[in-house]
Amino acid sequence: MQKNASELLELIFSYVTKIAAIHDPDKILFEVAQMGRDLVDADRCSVWILEKESDTLWTKVSQGVDTLRIPAYSGIVGECILAQEAQIINDVYANPNFNQSVDKTTGYKTETMMVIPIHNSNEEVSGALQVINKIGDEGFTLEDLKHLQLASTYIAESLESSMLLDEIDATQRELVYIMGVTGESRSKETGNHVKRVAEYSRLLAELYGLSKEECEILKDASPMHDLGKIAIPDAVLNKPGRFNEEERLIMNTHAQLGYDILKNSERTLLKAAAIVAYQHHEKYNGTGYPNQLKGEEIHIYGRITALADVFDALGSDRVYKKAWDDERIDALFREERGEHFDADLIDLFFKHKAEFIAIREQFKDIYRGE
Ligand code: C2E
Ligand code: SIN
Ligand code: SIN
Ligand code: FE
Ligand code: FE
Repeated sequence: MQKNASELLELIFSYVTKIAAIHDPDKILFEVAQMGRDLVDADRCSVWILEKESDTLWTKVSQGVDTLRIPAYSGIVGECILAQEAQIINDVYANPNFNQSVDKTTGYKTETMMVIPIHNSNEEVSGALQVINKIGDEGFTLEDLKHLQLASTYIAESLESSMLLDEIDATQRELVYIMGVTGESRSKETGNHVKRVAEYSRLLAELYGLSKEECEILKDASPMHDLGKIAIPDAVLNKPGRFNEEERLIMNTHAQLGYDILKNSERTLLKAAAIVAYQHHEKYNGTGYPNQLKGEEIHIYGRITALADVFDALGSDRVYKKAWDDERIDALFREERGEHFDADLIDLFFKHKAEFIAIREQFKDIYRGE
């Protein structure tokens, strides 16, 4: 039995109402998968994730059974991912690709199936949406496939935010560990400085046109730009005046140190943080440190954080200097356009200056008398 248009709309509407009230991305993903199942009158649905590091497929959403794991590129799902092609299979056991081990594990008899590859925002295949066993006698139709395709676009989106969240949770745990091992940060400039740098960086990333995911990643990664300062001796880090040459050189090692702490992580967020830590003192004209990178050799994350960090440092009191007023900051930014900083970013900064000032106001340091 095929649903007619008004039945479909009613179904979608009821799910959308339900989903709107949910905040947990995993639960949203689950509901969207259910919606796909109901749209096509299937008995079950699964969302399979392709994990390239371990060459496996696993079910992030599965019904009535625990998480399943199978070798990547195996079975009908694997074939669908490899071919990047949706499939309708109405006699599953006759299909040479079918991996019967899954039914043997679950005790569930698969008869008919539809599978659709899911793409992430970089257009790579990241998994598949699968529905099993059309309810009623007939099998799945092309019409069903079209409806499931509709649901799968929402699945791709929910999946992305759900995975991003997983990653951030795990990252936070990892960071707490790293910080614990390395010793807590002693720099006096933390607190709101990192929040402001995070917000300025995200704003610049948005204005520059990076994807939504990259903007979020950079926002979460940029606060770690000075992580390496945790390994700088107190006498240097908190010196109440200007550096001498030797102290300057010691401080400059914080970029490499931060990178060394972060570089071995496989997590997207910490990889971004490693780039930011490494490159936030490089200058567009090639005179920065530690590697004298030039122009676009500096990752966009590095170029953005450089501007965000200096804007904030100049506008704040430091142990070694008083805050600058805005005219003085503007003058430096004009002078350093295309020198210290990417000219495009400086232009975006001036064009949207009010938004940067608003962030500074929102996260301003609470004055503590001395
Ligand atoms: P920070 O205070 O967060 O400053 C970040 C960056 O903002 C600096 O990177 C520099 O590019 C810019 N900046 C901040 N204040 C000024 C300023 O008064 N004039 C100019 N022209 N630029 C400024 P930089 O220079 O690589 O310094 C990295 C970090 O080293 C600083 O981070 C700060 O923690 C420390 N530092 C640098 N110079 C001194 C110093 O003379 N004394 C002390 N105690 N710390 C210093
Ligand atoms: C397969 O992809 O062949 C097995 C997956 C399943 O039956 O759920
Ligand atoms: C400088 O004024 O040259 C450096 C100041 C800073 O590191 O913030
Ligand atoms: Fe720094
Ligand atoms: Fe900083």
